Amino acid sequence: MHELRNQILCGDCVEVLQKAKEPFADLVFADPPFNIGYKYDKYHDEKANDHYLAWTRDWIGQCVRVLKPSGSIYIAIGDEYAAQIKLILEDEHKLSLRNWIIWHYTFGQQTKTKFARSHTHILYFVKDAKRFTFNDDVVRVISDRQKKYRDKRANPTGKIPDDVWNEYARICGTFSERTGHPCQMPESLLARIIRVSSNEGDWVLDPFCGSGVTATVAHKLGRRYTTIDLSEDYVEAAKKRIADSVGLTHEVESEGWTEHADAELRWLFGENKVPLSQLCESRFLLTLFTKKLNQRLQKKCPYTTEQVSKRLKRLGSSLSPLDAAKSLEMEASGVEE
Ligand SMILES: C[S@@+](CC[C@H](N)C(=O)[O-])C[C@H]1O[C@@H](n2cnc3c(N)ncnc32)[C@H](O)[C@@H]1O
Repeated sequence: MHELRNQILCGDCVEVLQKAKEPFADLVFADPPFNIGYKYDKYHDEKANDHYLAWTRDWIGQCVRVLKPSGSIYIAIGDEYAAQIKLILEDEHKLSLRNWIIWHYTFGQQTKTKFARSHTHILYFVKDAKRFTFNDDVVRVISDRQKKYRDKRANPTGKIPDDVWNEYARICGTFSERTGHPCQMPESLLARIIRVSSNEGDWVLDPFCGSGVTATVAHKLGRRYTTIDLSEDYVEAAKKRIADSVGLTHEVESEGWTEHADAELRWLFGENKVPLSQLCESRFLLTLFTKKLNQRLQKKCPYTTEQVSKRLKRLGSSLSPLDAAKSLEMEASGVEE
């Protein structure tokens, strides 16, 4: 299995995975082409229905085969094939559905004759409904009971997020995270999946590398990874992305914050949905937030609430990716806020 460990491979995922003799993946995340005519470098995204479904069965078959008995699989898919894929996993592979997640994003494509589509399905299945990884602690968010009512009955670690995810904006042109890939998922979304469904040292497989987001986040979070793409250019860009991510652990501006810690701070802020002023003014909420951040970062010297509050205020409008993109646009066009 060494030839697959921590590799970004160029090739057809079905052919590459066929070579694996035994299950190795603790977690599979797959975001295949949706068959809706997207322009990829090396893949034609407009196949006949039968052809697309037969190919879908092939790659799902390989992914399920290399998934360990205690493993989890997440598949991102559009409206066109979500129902068929659910049945393939459930009826043909006997996997158990945990959640049918809806990723709801802003910036849906506008059309004149129907409502704008603003979601992607993420089907979350496990091989064994009694034995799988679900690290609820690291993904819990501050609950309304804690936020609004300071209710003592509230679970002190917060609540498990709902299955409609509206806290992750689609990556648009001006986002600093943006690579050259035509459809790129946000790192924050992958971080939630990887954190909850795998442990440090576990092995994450993404058969459709694209921009390399899954491998990059897996690497940042101390997981092993394997990812594959037909396009040499995408593979090269993804390798560079991972190599560059090593630098993200260096301190910025000598204030004890690394780029990665800043990214985690932004992600956590987005997920908890507490307005900045409320968060910084409430000792109770700030303590909860700081605890969650430290839990995610696992630093030897955890941040204090004062450091977190100061950093949050410093980052201000750039905490939300949409606002950050807006101010970048303004900077580029010389407009003052
Ligand atoms: C929807 S994109 C993945 C995007 C990725 N999740 C991201 O966020 O960057 C699908 C990718 O699958 C690749 N692809 C298509 N057919 C493939 C195959 N048979 N094996 C490996 N990769 C393939 C395409 O080149 C494209 O980059």
